[in-house]
Amino acid sequence: MNGRDGGFRGATGTAAVLTGLGAWLPPRRVTNDDLCARLDTSDEWIRERIGIAERRLAAPDVSTGDMAVEAAARAMASAGVDAVDALLVATSSPDHPCPATAPWVAHRLGLPQVAAFDIAAGCSGFVHACAVAAGLIASGAARRVLVVGAETMSAMVDPDDRATAPIFGDGAGAAVFEADSPHAEGALGPVVWGSDGSLADAIVVPAGGARGRHERAGAPQGDFFVHMRGNEVFRHAVRRMTHAAREAAARAGWRIDEVDRLIAHQANLRINLAVADALGIPADQVPSNIRDVGNTAAASVPLLLADACDKGELKPGHKVLLVSFGSGLAWAATTLVWPAGLAPRL
Ligand code: UT7
Repeated sequence: MNGRDGGFRGATGTAAVLTGLGAWLPPRRVTNDDLCARLDTSDEWIRERIGIAERRLAAPDVSTGDMAVEAAARAMASAGVDAVDALLVATSSPDHPCPATAPWVAHRLGLPQVAAFDIAAGCSGFVHACAVAAGLIASGAARRVLVVGAETMSAMVDPDDRATAPIFGDGAGAAVFEADSPHAEGALGPVVWGSDGSLADAIVVPAGGARGRHERAGAPQGDFFVHMRGNEVFRHAVRRMTHAAREAAARAGWRIDEVDRLIAHQANLRINLAVADALGIPADQVPSNIRDVGNTAAASVPLLLADACDKGELKPGHKVLLVSFGSGLAWAATTLVWPAGLAPRL
C-alpha cells in the first residue's frame, strides 16, 4: 500500500464494513460574536472566509479521552456490540504526550486488554484510522475495530491568535467497522493517501516535543500552540483533496457523476466547495456542519457522517466519497456505499 496503490481487498477478500456511528459535542457554544470580545475579527469575516457561525468548546475538566469515551460508547450502541478487537483513537490533541489516549479510553469503555493505540495524522486522522482498520480486518488481525476521532483543539490554539482561534472546535465522533464481504453496503473501498513532510512546518506546534527540547524552558508561551500558514495550507488542501478524491473514486470503479455525496474534512467551507467544483460534484451533494461546530480536526469526518445521516442527507445506497487533509501534511480518501439500517447515536 502506498500513495499509488491503495486498497485492502487483496489478502483475504474481507472488507471493513461500517455498522455503527456515534458523536459527542461539548454543550458550550461559542459564537463568532463571543470571540470578537477578545480578537480583532468579525462575525462577517469568519462566516464569509471560513463558513463558521459557532463552535463547541470543552469545559476545562473535559479532555480528548473523555469525549472519545462518549462518542465510542454511542458508536458501539449504534452497532449493537459490546466488544471489539481493536480501538484506534485519531487525535492531534492527546490527553498526554505519553501514553497514548486509546488504552485509557478502552479501559473506561470496559474493554480490558484490547489492542488500543493512537493515530497521529492531524485533521486527516480519522480517514487514516479507517484505512488502518480496513488493513487490520483484511489481514485477519481483527474482525471488529472501533475508530474514534477526538479533539480538544481549544487546548491547542492560542485564544489571542485570530489566525487560528476562530477556526477550531472540540468534539468527538466514532465508527464501528466489522469484517464482511467487499460487496456489502458500508464496505470501505480502496484507499488513496499520502503525505508531504517538506511542509511539516505549515501547521505546527513548535515546542513541547523532542525537537528543540533544550530551549523548552525559555520557549515563548505561543510556541506551545498551533501555528498555521493558512493561505498556503488552503491551496495545498484543495489540490491534494481533489486529486485523492478523484483517484479513490476511480479505483472504486465510480465515475464522478455517480458520486451522490462528498464527505470532506471540515476545515473551511470554501475549500470544500472548491474541491467539489474541481471534481464536478454539485454543491448540494456536499453535506457540511462546519457552520455549527467549526473545524474539529480528526473528529470532523465522523461528526459530519453522524450529522448527515441523522438529517437524512446520507441515504442507503448513496455512493459516498470521503476525503480528508491536515497537518503533516497528510491526506486520505476512500469510498463506501451508505448502508441501510445505520442509526447514529448523537
Ligand atoms: O484543518 C487542517 C487544515 N487546515 C486548513 O485547511 C485551513 C486552511 N486555511 C484556511 O482555511 C484559510 O486560509 C484561513 C481561514 C486560515 C484564512 O483565510 P484566508 O482567506 O486564507 O485569509 P488570509 O490568511 O489570506 O488573510 C486575508 C486577510 C489578511 O488581511 P490583509 O493582509 O489582506 O489586510 C488577514 O490579516 O484577512 C486577515 N485576517 C482576518 N481578518 C479578520 C486573517 N484572519 C482574520 C480574522 N478576522 N480572523
